[in-house]
Order: sequence, then structure tokens, then C-alpha cells
Amino acid sequence: MTTRQESPRDAENLRLVAMDTSHRFDRVLQSFPRRTGELAAPPAGSGLLPVRGDRGIPFVGFGIHTLRYGPAYQLQLLRRHGPVSWCQAFGRKVVVVSGPDAVQAVLANKDKAFATGWPDVIGPWFDGGLLAMNAPEHLGHRRLMQAAYGEEALDAYVRCMAEDAHTALERWPAGRRFAAVAAIRELSGQVTTRAILGLPYEPAGRRIMRAVEECIRAETAALRLRIPGTLWHRAYRARRQLLTSLTRAVAGSGPREGDDFLSVLSRVGREDQGRFDSRQIAEHTLFTLIASHDTTAAATMATVYFLGRHPEWQDRARAECLTGAETPPTAAALSRLETLDSVIKESIRLVSPSPINMRVTVKDTELLGHYLPAGQLVSVCTAVNQLLPELWDRPQHFDPERFAEGRNEERVHRLAWAPFGSGQHKCIGMHFGMLKVKATLEAMLRRFEWRLPDGYEAPWRFTSLPAPSDGLPVVLRPLRERPEHDGQRLHGNRETGSDRRQ
Ligand code: HEM
Repeated sequence: MTTRQESPRDAENLRLVAMDTSHRFDRVLQSFPRRTGELAAPPAGSGLLPVRGDRGIPFVGFGIHTLRYGPAYQLQLLRRHGPVSWCQAFGRKVVVVSGPDAVQAVLANKDKAFATGWPDVIGPWFDGGLLAMNAPEHLGHRRLMQAAYGEEALDAYVRCMAEDAHTALERWPAGRRFAAVAAIRELSGQVTTRAILGLPYEPAGRRIMRAVEECIRAETAALRLRIPGTLWHRAYRARRQLLTSLTRAVAGSGPREGDDFLSVLSRVGREDQGRFDSRQIAEHTLFTLIASHDTTAAATMATVYFLGRHPEWQDRARAECLTGAETPPTAAALSRLETLDSVIKESIRLVSPSPINMRVTVKDTELLGHYLPAGQLVSVCTAVNQLLPELWDRPQHFDPERFAEGRNEERVHRLAWAPFGSGQHKCIGMHFGMLKVKATLEAMLRRFEWRLPDGYEAPWRFTSLPAPSDGLPVVLRPLRERPEHDGQRLHGNRETGSDRRQ
């Protein structure tokens, strides 16, 4: 394993590893006293160490730091207090776990001391889905669901997603600056509804994705009361309507025909294994919509951003798409796009779409010799591992070659690269997700070149899943306008602009 210290002059992606101090608000925020202390006293004679951490601003604690700086703040906690620490965030004490060994211990969960912590943090939006379940119920449901993620099923989803991505991109604006965050979110919905529900995006699919987004937005709502007009209330209504229509779609008629996820799920399970009932199919499908939509949008955003900053990689990935895959591509053809694969892996290493995994202790336990009491919320920071100089060569740098055969930096530790989690709850949609992001990027690369404003550095925020807070300004140029290989690229002056920062 190579480890090298970052040079202080090295500013590439600095905001991902160090808390920004450029704005006055950041300086004020970071000037508050940390108020360091212990989480809980270990039982006498146990030999365990207390977990040390910071209380910070009364009530708010480090909640704003977490949303504003994400992994950069958690990295600072790791350096100050070690792999097991705690901080206060909006009135709650949260244990923060990072570093490969601590993350592995929690996610492997050998002593069964950790349960899913998501319902505790976000509310009822995952209810009935795998991530809200614990063993043994979780295992039974996951086994049944596996059929909906098999190779044959994925082939059919990819066919729809790739076609829909190509069609949707026809309407993207070219030649002017536009906000890519909103466009990529919409695109994620456009390539979802036929594959998962067997429904075209217009008009029914769009309504469904709006309702799914209401549920996703409510995950981070500050006001959690069912008062009409609030986000929380709207999300409850949206969830009820979604579950009613999904249940209706599978109830009564028996197994559905069709290649979409909902139809496949309505057919899974042999009699002796038990089958899902209509309500369970509806709940799993709704959670699948939630789990797949924002994560894949965030992965696409990160890749669009890094390809905008690294035109040489954009060119390489495009050349591979133009020579390698038929249009629209099959799952097998997408899997052969190795450059694009490394580019996406590197993008989600630097900006992990799902940077933390939430757990709660179900009994008093120990973690790397530290005492954790029962009922303790634990934030497992996989994204921090992906940025550690102990594990990665020059971790701030965008360098897709690190995943190339022979170098394989991700193999240095099984928890070095874990954007899809690990252990019992590891993302069951990992291949689905990678194929969706690849199908979207492949369609974009075939149709457009894109660039970012000169000197642009994304202001990543971590309120829900990571996204640039300014909407990510992008300019597209349709490839068909470009005389074939005329050497006049959109990124024409490579000595200026974003490329010069590398
Ligand atoms: C780039 C895209 C994606 C990323 C980064 C991602 C990330 C994750 C992570 C980190 C977890 C584990 C969370 C934890 O342990 O607390 C997870 C679980 C899950 N994901 Fe994904 N995901 C992605 C796409 C998808 C897609 C496309 C689907 C479905 C079509 C999906 C369905 C699920 C489900 C059902 C679970 C729960 C698994 C379980 O609890 O057994 N994900 N995902």
C-alpha cells in the first residue's frame, strides 16, 4: 500500500477532505468551542475505554457541520478522537465510526449487537423495505427478493433504461448553461418507471416519481408533525397513495406478466418458501424506488462533474462507448465498458452517494475496545475510508486508473471502497445501480460533450445525499454539431480553465 501526504498546495478536491473556511459563516461555525467529553462511563472492571467526542453548540451540536461538510468533518473527528468517537447533532448523541477496521466490525455485526438505525433517524419512509428490517425477517425477505435482481431480470431492466435515457436526453438544452442537478434527478425518474413499474414516464410515471421525491425529501425534514401543509404531512399522503396504487397493481390479478421489477417481484418465491403478499410487494417496490432514485442520481452527478473537470477522461470514456457498445446498449455491452466503469467507481469513491450507514446498538457492546451502551445511534462513515491516505494513493485526486487491473487500490482492505455498504444490508441493487448509471452516462457521452465554468469547484452539500448546492452549472454541446474528429473540442483551450488546476 502506498501512502503519501497531500501537499498543502494541492487544492484538488480539497473541500472533500478539509472543512471549507472560505465563507464567513464557515469561520463562525468553526469558532464555537468543541466541549469535548465522554459518551458514557464503561462498566467498572470491564477494561473498556470510554468513547470520546464533542458536544459543540448547545442542542445543534455538530449537526450543521455534518450536513455542510460531510466526510470532511467526520475525517476531522477521526483524526482528533480515533475511529470510534461521538458528536452531538440536533439534540442527539451519535457515535461516529470510521476507518476500515471499525467500519468492518459494525457492518459485519458478528455479535448481533447492531440493528438498522435508519427508521430511528429518518422516520417511517423505509417501512416494509429491506433496510428497515432486521434478522431473521430481513434474511427471509432478502432471499425472496434476490430473483428480482438476477441476470435475466437485469437484462430486461437495462433494455428499458438505456432506451429511455437516449430518448430523454433528446430534450436536454445545448449551448447554454443549465442546472444539471435538477436535470439529472428528472432523468433518473425518466429511466426508472418503465424498468421498475412497467409504466411510461409520461404521464403516470412522472406523478409517481414526484410522490417518491416527497417521501425522500421528508427524510431530512426538521418539523416532523402531521400538520397540513408541512413536508412531513405531504410525504405521509404521498406514501399512502403510492402504497394503495402499488397494492392495487398486484392484488387480485395473480402474478403479473411483464419484465419490469414489480411484475418480477409479483412472481417470485416458490410455494414452500412462502410468497410476498400484495402489500409486501408494494412496500418493497416503494422502498426500491426510494433506494434507487437518489443514489443513482447522486452517482451520475458526481460522474458528470468529474468528467467535466477532466476532459481527457471524458474523451476516453466516450471513445470506448462509440466503439464498444451498440445503441441502446445491452447489460453485457455496458459491462464491457471498463473505462466508464473505473470512472464511475472513482467518482463515487470521491463523492459517495450514500456516505453513511446508520445503525443502533441493541445491547451494551464494545467496539475496538470502546464501550457502547444499548440504544446508541451509530453513524458508520464508509465515505471517510474512501478518502484516507492510509488506504489510497493521493486520495484527493481523481484517478480512475487506481481501479485498473494490476493496481487495484480498492483491494487494500475490504472496507476501503464501500459505496454500496457491506454485510447483511449491502446494497442488493449494486449491479442494477451501476448499470443504470452506466446506461445514463453512455447515452450522455454519445450525444454530448460537456464542460463546467472555468475554475469551477462544486460546493458539495450533504443534507440528503450529496449534491452541489449551486445546482451544478454545465454547458452541453451536441456531438453531431461537431465536424467528425475536427480536433476543435469544447474543452478547446486545455491550458486554461478547469483543467489547469490538476
Ligand atoms: C449508485 C447507486 C447506489 C448506491 C450508492 C447504493 C448504496 C446503498 C447502500 C450504502 C446500502 C446499504 C445501507 C446500509 O447498510 O445502511 C444500500 C442498500 C440497499 N439498496 Fe442501494 N444503492 C444504489 C442503488 C440501488 C438500486 C438501483 C437499488 C434497487 C433497484 C437499490 C436497492 C437497495 C436496497 C433494497 C437496499 C437494502 C438492502 C438490505 O437492507 O438488505 N440500491 N444501497
